[in-house]
Amino acid sequence: METQYTPRAGTVWLIGAGPGDPELLTVKAARLIAQADAVVFDHLVGNGIMDLARADARRIYAGKEASNHTLPQESINRLLVDLAREGLSVVRLKGGDPFIFGRGGEELETLAASGIPFEVVPGVTAAAGCAAYSAFPLTHRDHAQSVTFVTGHLKDGTVNLDWPALARPGQTVVFYMGIGAADEICRQMIEHGLPAQTPAAVVRNGTLPTQQTLVATLGTLPQRIAESGITPPALIVVGSVVNLHSRLNWFEQK
Ligand SMILES: C[S@@+](CC[C@H](N)C(=O)[O-])C[C@H]1O[C@@H](n2cnc3c(N)ncnc32)[C@H](O)[C@@H]1O
Repeated sequence: METQYTPRAGTVWLIGAGPGDPELLTVKAARLIAQADAVVFDHLVGNGIMDLARADARRIYAGKEASNHTLPQESINRLLVDLAREGLSVVRLKGGDPFIFGRGGEELETLAASGIPFEVVPGVTAAAGCAAYSAFPLTHRDHAQSVTFVTGHLKDGTVNLDWPALARPGQTVVFYMGIGAADEICRQMIEHGLPAQTPAAVVRNGTLPTQQTLVATLGTLPQRIAESGITPPALIVVGSVVNLHSRLNWFEQK
């Protein structure tokens, strides 16, 4: 093993744990988790990944379910600074990739302002993991020339997005945190020009044995979600690529 990645005292490693399947962790992430003095982790970090931590490592659960923020963001920022100042090597472990809807940037800004050294290890983001395990490519020459990741998180009951851009044909749009706003998302995409028959899917628990993929259309997706009782964590994916799921599915039980 190379030694260049050995955690140094007083440093924070911001690490993406991937979307759920622990085998999607990078080699670098696995090595750092196994060596760190302290690991601060979120709720979407896949089962089994924390087993890699040293038996004597400090493990701190920082939470972050949609409506149940166990530690406020400012407390997490402060905690990382305090642990590093204690002289510990600290891993800050987040689901997916830390720079995609992960607030990783905010945490690093606090570390930088406090003079704490840090490094970043990317992870497989939920969109890439769900696309791979639900068996639809996010881009495809016959379907989508681009892919856009957006947050569907409701603010004051609405989703404030650039709907005319998102409703353009020939692309795939992936909504993170959009399950609670599925009605609004589908309605806006149709109002801004996409046909109600446009394929749309939900992937829940992507890359895990409990993964569920539900393929519908913009017109039918909200009702299908309500009927199936699907809850987070889930992505909404809009675009004709999702129709490839039925032909390419290799992962989910048939
Ligand atoms: C706060 S965001 C974090 C995203 C993460 N940083 C990433 O790169 O995947 C949490 C949202 O990511 C999506 N998500 C994360 N893991 C997922 C999974 N295994 N299956 C489906 N969606 C997932 C859901 O939309 C969830 O509400």
